Amino acid sequence: MNPKIDDWVGKRVWMIGASTGIGEAAARLLLDMGARVAFSARSADKLERAVAAAPRALALPLDVTDHASVMAARDALVAAWGGVDLVLIVAGGYNEMRADGIDLAAANSMIDLNVRGAFNCLDAALPLLIAQGAGGIGIVASVAGYGGLPKALVYGATKAALINLTESLYLDLRPRGIAVYQINPGFVDTPLTANNDFTMPALMTAEDAAFEMVDGIERGQFHIHFPKRLTNSMRVARLLPYRLYFWLIHKVTGL
Ligand SMILES: NC(=O)c1ccc[n+]([C@@H]2O[C@H](COP(=O)([O-])OP(=O)(O)OC[C@H]3O[C@@H](n4cnc5c(N)ncnc54)[C@H](OP(=O)(O)O)[C@@H]3O)[C@@H](O)[C@H]2O)c1
Repeated sequence: MNPKIDDWVGKRVWMIGASTGIGEAAARLLLDMGARVAFSARSADKLERAVAAAPRALALPLDVTDHASVMAARDALVAAWGGVDLVLIVAGGYNEMRADGIDLAAANSMIDLNVRGAFNCLDAALPLLIAQGAGGIGIVASVAGYGGLPKALVYGATKAALINLTESLYLDLRPRGIAVYQINPGFVDTPLTANNDFTMPALMTAEDAAFEMVDGIERGQFHIHFPKRLTNSMRVARLLPYRLYFWLIHKVTGL
């Protein structure tokens, strides 16, 4: 559904959310494969450490909830490299929330980070990609966006929004020569999941998640999801009538 990528050498990648977890692992993997990688996130110290010994890397600190900082990072990237071949929006956050403990401030800040943050990045990246008529953009959503889940009252809604968003982006951008990737991880062992108090099925390392993400992009997939044994079960569950879906989720999660 997107062009295949056979060779990363010299490719200019902007990894937004590259200081820890999946984004950091993917940024390092792409650097190892010969790409030029701009590392973005809020933690400037971690970004500087990541790029210190990497001549093909740039540190571009930003806060995705601060539009001006995203635009400034985009301008710095263009000044350094003249353009971009792949933008990956990985930055995101998770707070457990259920209906009997709604916390509006936490809900709004998750929406600001996961949804408005993605739009701030799109506002910076899309005019550039469209002017180039080439390149690609990927957004990391989640298997939690496939269907409602307990403890994901707000997180799931933000990720469902991103899934829908990537579909619209694909329709608009693919005919203009731009690749679009929807990336849905299952459970990955990162700081984001470190406080989960339940057994995470099919938990994978950030390095394995990064490999799956990059492999899907290389193959030209639109819908990149992993690990398959979890994501495919969720996709099948989503096809069930609601009565069965809700029964199954209660039974599997015990919640
Ligand atoms: N781990 C999982 O099981 C899992 C499953 C499905 C989907 N995901 C998604 O995968 C993505 C990466 O998650 P992860 O597990 O790798 O978590 P993580 O290790 O906590 O990484 C999150 C990244 O986002 C950055 N970030 C957070 N807030 C930001 C902000 N306001 N501006 C700029 N960057 C910001 C963080 O850097 P700073 O703190 O330095 O800014 C960090 O680089 C998220 O979108 C998450 O929802 C994760």
